Amino acid sequence: MWLPGRSWRRGSGGISASRRQALTAFDPADVLTCLKVGERVGPVMPPVVQASLFRFETLSALLAAQGREHEVSVYSRGTNPTVCELETALATLERGEAAKCTASGMGAIAATLFALTKAGDHVLFVGDIYGPTLQLAARLGEFGVTHSRCLSADIAAIEAAVIPATRLIYCESPGTMRFDLLPLAGIAALAKARGILTAIDNTVATPLLQKPLTLGFDLALHSLTKYVGGHSDTLGGAVIGSAALVERIFRDGYMLLGAAMAPHDAWLHLRGLMTLPTRLARQSEDALAIARFLADHPRARRVFHPALGDEPLFAARMPRGHSALFAAEFDLPDHAATLALADRLQLFAKAISWGGTESLVATPHRSDPGPGEHRYPRTMLRFSVGLEGAETLIADLSQALDG
Ligand SMILES: Cc1ncc(COP(=O)(O)O)c(C=O)c1O
Repeated sequence: MWLPGRSWRRGSGGISASRRQALTAFDPADVLTCLKVGERVGPVMPPVVQASLFRFETLSALLAAQGREHEVSVYSRGTNPTVCELETALATLERGEAAKCTASGMGAIAATLFALTKAGDHVLFVGDIYGPTLQLAARLGEFGVTHSRCLSADIAAIEAAVIPATRLIYCESPGTMRFDLLPLAGIAALAKARGILTAIDNTVATPLLQKPLTLGFDLALHSLTKYVGGHSDTLGGAVIGSAALVERIFRDGYMLLGAAMAPHDAWLHLRGLMTLPTRLARQSEDALAIARFLADHPRARRVFHPALGDEPLFAARMPRGHSALFAAEFDLPDHAATLALADRLQLFAKAISWGGTESLVATPHRSDPGPGEHRYPRTMLRFSVGLEGAETLIADLSQALDG
């Protein structure tokens, strides 16, 4: 079923000058947290502690450490000093008490769902959710954990989708592909009133643009593979929340699934964090300029960028701005013509994932969905804007659209 999302249509007004200035209004304290990762006297970058295990003076000291393995380096499947540097920075950025980093974003999602659910429990997914997360939920169904989806951003509809067995409400906002925004504070409040845990995949916003824990969410999850790593050369994930909840996920999911982050990957993510504010500010600004160019182009039917369209809603739900991802539906006859348009682009790489320094173009469809109703239009493309520069990318889009 196709649900109309927030989108820009020609002549819909656009964003005011004051909002434009505030589009990437990071907290200055966050910029310093990113820049000063691992700051200490000695080497300016944290060392890569390439050790799988750690030696103790006595066996009783080792046994005591094992009781706090979520925070003490005993064995690197649990805790490693280089990974800890990254966990501390991410917990600070998300305003959480604790974080654990995983080998990929799916590692964090898997550890969380595995640790927090058991047979008989129900998970409610709200918003446009990353596909493999839903595949994992379907797999958990074979172990007695049920799930359902609510595609509405209406708080009454979300409330109506909660059932007595609901133990976790899991959200994505901005949502995958159409970047719809959810009423996060309202969702957190309704969950809290019923003793239901809340988690959000905060990858698209990054901790710089949205801090769900400050809105009442229990957990923020990330694929660090995207903007935090930022250079398309490493994978990573994170789960951040209260010390008690993160320890529970560590004990009942993280340690058992074995998807720990490797120290060298943590080091790459720490290096990525140092330039995250600068990259994200530039990429977001360019993405908005390109989205506005497309919105005014006669071959674009609509543009899915949360800053375009419902301006007061965007200001209320994402006051710090949106990142450098958006999508557009084109006025083209079919899926094949849409793929041909993408292929004419010379500067947008045809590759999956996003968040790196290179611009990418992707389709939400693995094959032609055919005419008729579908959640995403057949002529839709998603763009991840890199660092090539807005003017250069607009020129590339122009030649491809005119071709
Ligand atoms: C929104 C979102 N969450 C999670 C993931 C999974 O992250 P990873 O590929 O690092 O496992 C992705 C990957 O594309 C994603 O787009």
